[in-house]
Amino acid sequence: MDEDRCRSGILFAVPKKKIAVVPGDGIGKEVIPQAVSVIEATAALVEFTHFDWGADRFLKDGTTIPADGFQMLAQNFDAIFLGALGDPRVSSNIHAKEILLGMRFKLDLYANVRPVKLLDEGLCPLKNVKPDDVDFVVIRENTEGVYMDMGGLFKQGTPDEVATQEDINTRKGVERVIRFSFEYAKRNGRKKVLMSDKSNVMTYAGGLWQRVFKEIAKEYADIQTQHMYVDALCLQMVRDPESLDVIVTNNMFGDIVTDLAAALQGGLGMAASGNIHPGRTSMFEPVHGSAPAIAGKNMANPMGAILSGAMMLRHLGLTAEAEKIEAAVLGAVQQKKTTVDVGGAMGTRECAEWIRDRVSQA
Ligand code: NAD
Ligand code: IPM
Ligand code: MN
Repeated sequence: MDEDRCRSGILFAVPKKKIAVVPGDGIGKEVIPQAVSVIEATAALVEFTHFDWGADRFLKDGTTIPADGFQMLAQNFDAIFLGALGDPRVSSNIHAKEILLGMRFKLDLYANVRPVKLLDEGLCPLKNVKPDDVDFVVIRENTEGVYMDMGGLFKQGTPDEVATQEDINTRKGVERVIRFSFEYAKRNGRKKVLMSDKSNVMTYAGGLWQRVFKEIAKEYADIQTQHMYVDALCLQMVRDPESLDVIVTNNMFGDIVTDLAAALQGGLGMAASGNIHPGRTSMFEPVHGSAPAIAGKNMANPMGAILSGAMMLRHLGLTAEAEKIEAAVLGAVQQKKTTVDVGGAMGTRECAEWIRDRVSQA
């Protein structure tokens, strides 16, 4: 508890926001501690508790996440700050599935919000694209679709083998993520929500998305709507990113288009995300993975993790602190105080330290 003073001069206690930190694997273990130190430099009233869930722990004692882990996170923490999960030593990827997808599913974090914002012209691989031209957000359904891993094998190991993978779309799941997207647009002064699917081929699932989108849109007369097949959306993201505002799509399409979207911002090292269920303990993580090839080399770009930290603070109501971080990252990009992947010459630590110093002085 920190003490603060209200106008009448009476002292009252301001509770610190409790954050569970899970660096995970590979570069997650490098970028997350750096992002935590940047958050600390804002003097935000937050308290971090660190968890060692990831490949090392799994290989040591078989723990992915303890049995009561999800309940403990939901009850004891205001937010979760996660790095990345995935390690070549765990070929089944079981720990990543249980920890990362476990959080998304078991905490019911149904909206994966992935902002796509270009901070400097030099970061975009497209020609003549200015920062204002790339400023949209992808809201990815985060609890259903092919990620439910329903399906099966028939006649396995024979020439007649059959594999099925079901795409699960519930009315409730589709409706809540579409409604979230319209609410997000309304709250953030966005003008348009575009729903993307593949309803020309996946007629049952796409049909549900189409019907629900049209129905919910009626409640938001001030917000324009648009539909685009996901293949056409990929083209549009490259040809005319300026036309995009809020995009809502299913779990798998959202996964794919956000790597493409990350490229527009300078690469995976720049992209931030929040896995959100309004009113519940939500989870924030960079979009990138554990990048085994560059792990442990002080090469990873920490900006995606740092910007995810800013998203988390904003979500927790710590807006001024989030703004300090975002301004410092923008300053670093503009002054080329960056890692090699985005054209700079700094290491992970040096880049984060520059940002941290800037935040401390703000
Ligand atoms: P990846 O994001 O780890 O790497 C893709 C490419 O981007 C690589 O060339 C990598 O070097 C580069 N890259 C990623 N982050 C970077 C950063 N911060 N700075 C500089 N370069 C960066 O994706 P991948 O190679 O497909 O997957 C590696 C592992 O991570 C796999 O086990 C995968 O399942 C896992 N993964 C986890 C998450 C997550 O935890 N949210 C996300 C994606 C992938
Ligand atoms: C992401 C990742 C994950 C996903 C993997 C690691 C399961 O690619 O967060 O984008 O597919 O959602
Ligand atoms: Mn992905």
